[in-house]
Amino acid sequence: MSHSQATTRNRAISAGVATAFLATSLAALLAAGGLLLPVAASAQQADGERLFRQRCGACHSLEPGQNRAGPHLSGLIGRQAGSVEGARYSAALRESAIVWDSGTLDAFLTAPRQRVPGTSMTVGVPNAAQRAAIILYLEGTGAL
Ligand code: HEC
Repeated sequence: MSHSQATTRNRAISAGVATAFLATSLAALLAAGGLLLPVAASAQQADGERLFRQRCGACHSLEPGQNRAGPHLSGLIGRQAGSVEGARYSAALRESAIVWDSGTLDAFLTAPRQRVPGTSMTVGVPNAAQRAAIILYLEGTGAL
């Protein structure tokens, strides 16, 4: 075997070792990611609570019976839009035939007046990640 042939062979071997090493590292990273997922989910939940307080809390309570500028959001998931007794609603929302779940909430919160023209709720949450965090929070609290 000439010197240059030996060098080529050594390079091939070290490339193989490097590939094996990368595959092992990747597997380790994926395993760690699996462990980290629940942590990420609860971080999103905490984020959702903070965002709800900042963006929604002035007008919406999660306590049944406490209507502010907007209706209380207790029991929201599965609820017919515009159905809280004693809350002030636009005719547009009352007649919208929406039932609230994660999908209808996502569409409404993206752009309320686009989803329900004539609604008196004018503020939306255009940021998808923030919207998802708020919806997750609502699904996991008294809004069920
Ligand atoms: C400035 C006050 C205000 C803010 C802030 C606000 N809302 Fe509203 N919201 C309202 C009003 C008023 C209505 C009633 C709309 C209508 O009747 O057309 C409403 C209606 C709703 C409804 C429909 C409830 C039902 O009983 O059908 C949902 C869901 C909702 N808001 C969620 C949110 C979320 C989530 C946030 C925060 C991202 C938020 N709102 C921020 C005022 C507000």
